[in-house]
Amino acid sequence: MAQCLRWERGDSVLDVGCGTGRTTQHIAQQGVKSVVGIDQSPDFIRCKMGIPDFCWGENLSFYIYRYTKENAEDTNVSFSVADIQRFSELEPSWLQSFDKAVSFYVLHLIRDKRSALENIRACLKPGGQLLMIVPTDDNVLMVTTRHMSSHRRWGKYLADCPRMMPWSADDREGLSGLAEECGFEVLSCECPLMLHWYSSEEATISAMLPFLGLHYIPAEEHADFLSDWWASVKSMTDASGCSALVDQAGRVAWTFSIL
Ligand SMILES: C[S@@+](CC[C@H](N)C(=O)[O-])C[C@H]1O[C@@H](n2cnc3c(N)ncnc32)[C@H](O)[C@@H]1O
Repeated sequence: MAQCLRWERGDSVLDVGCGTGRTTQHIAQQGVKSVVGIDQSPDFIRCKMGIPDFCWGENLSFYIYRYTKENAEDTNVSFSVADIQRFSELEPSWLQSFDKAVSFYVLHLIRDKRSALENIRACLKPGGQLLMIVPTDDNVLMVTTRHMSSHRRWGKYLADCPRMMPWSADDREGLSGLAEECGFEVLSCECPLMLHWYSSEEATISAMLPFLGLHYIPAEEHADFLSDWWASVKSMTDASGCSALVDQAGRVAWTFSIL
């Protein structure tokens, strides 16, 4: 983030799809004037996507953090529930008021990407900047969730599970073109491979759980479902370089590409 955006003391920043608020919190600590985190889910990711008990600690600390921040007099962080696709859900005070916006790992989840981008644009001051990260469609998570949706045992449960709608890795034009149509000037659009280490198979599954559609699967079949999903992860070989490899210590190297 620091390579792409230079934070200034007077910056007002919008974090679209802030989730648990970690990025929002990080930005607030960069000496900016204020940060607003918005997310469509009133409970952010927690309830909506059914994060299990073992993730609770992290979310709980976020809620405590949010509570403390919202109740502190000198806070420079605030959070709101809003669907970025809906102009009517934007606070009038946000319009043309932000110097910078970020949106990390959100746009691929949004059906009406044009409205989302137009609404972010409407919140930015003239000359304001947006930094986005969107995973591409050749990532292990995308490929394996598609596989599970057409799986002979699991497909029937996942028919109504919302699909993630990413761009392909070689479609920078798709993302840049849409951003330009929504009034942005695209300064740069890159597609790097990223590597994230998870401490174990369990930690990897825990991190991916919100995106697997587990709540569409009967509870008594969760273990089988996760086992089949993990088998499909391990069998994935992809020319794109995206992979999940388990090392001898049981750690998982999760390589993924982003736009
Ligand atoms: C993968 S999480 C990313 C969270 C955070 N940006 C991060 O990098 O950790 C995606 C978030 O986008 C939110 N989201 C999805 N669609 C949205 C929309 N239309 N408007 C606002 N937030 C949305 C979800 O509720 C979820 O919290």
